[in-house]
Amino acid sequence: MTKEHPKWFQSWFDTPYYHILYKHRDFKEAEDFIKNLVSYLNIDTDDSISDLACGKGRHSIFLNTLGYNVTGLDLSKNNIEQAKVHESNSLFFEVHDMRNTYGTQFEVVLNLFTSFGYFENDIDNLKVIKTIKSSLKQNGIGVIDYMNSTVVIENLIAHNTYESDGVKFDLKRSYNDGFITKNIEVNDAGTSFHFEEKVRAFNFQDFETMLSNAGLHLIDCFGNYQLEPFNSKTSERLILIFMAND
Ligand SMILES: C[S@@+](CC[C@H](N)C(=O)[O-])C[C@H]1O[C@@H](n2cnc3c(N)ncnc32)[C@H](O)[C@@H]1O
Repeated sequence: MTKEHPKWFQSWFDTPYYHILYKHRDFKEAEDFIKNLVSYLNIDTDDSISDLACGKGRHSIFLNTLGYNVTGLDLSKNNIEQAKVHESNSLFFEVHDMRNTYGTQFEVVLNLFTSFGYFENDIDNLKVIKTIKSSLKQNGIGVIDYMNSTVVIENLIAHNTYESDGVKFDLKRSYNDGFITKNIEVNDAGTSFHFEEKVRAFNFQDFETMLSNAGLHLIDCFGNYQLEPFNSKTSERLILIFMAND
């Protein structure tokens, strides 16, 4: 029997190279965003929060320092292993695929920093929204922080190189068939590796449709981590705030 080749999102995020390339997406950025988000959401400190696709837990860890009970879930074993170092009786991390229902409900479910749109099949992308819905307590709030695809596509840099921590990256970007793809050639001390990012270029209307198909509705939408209004032509981010219809 032939073994299925791992999907890009199963291998890339599990490497140290993802964390080197996105080094600037750090704890400071997470803290600034979470401060604004928590103040907007006005959640009680005994509320519980799920950080779906939490990575190494930069948002989860800060939320926990603010007093919230936080569960961080991610597919990457390496990320969760590193996040677990920070576990306490109110901060918990677990390997979990966001397409699958998680058996606990929360006041708030977060999906942050473009941790969405990774699947070829839109049924799988919708499953993530359904997971969020099934993880929300009554009157619970969901948050998806996504790229603003329109701006990303318009400003796509076809090719550039980057070097950090002694690792060289050769990056090629394209937009095809509704996906934004980044081809990533890594050269680490003479050894080469190849990775890819392939994310669906969902826009505001696509999210409205997906949320509605999952029995959710938008209550707000922001365009950056300062929570300024979303503008499809100029905003850096597409930050969706939503809740269940019933
Ligand atoms: C762009 S990173 C963002 C991580 C984190 N939210 C942050 O801001 O640092 C996307 C994360 O999604 C995780 N991921 C990818 N596919 C997943 C899946 N099917 N289920 C759960 N997590 C997944 C990756 O392992 C990675 O940690």
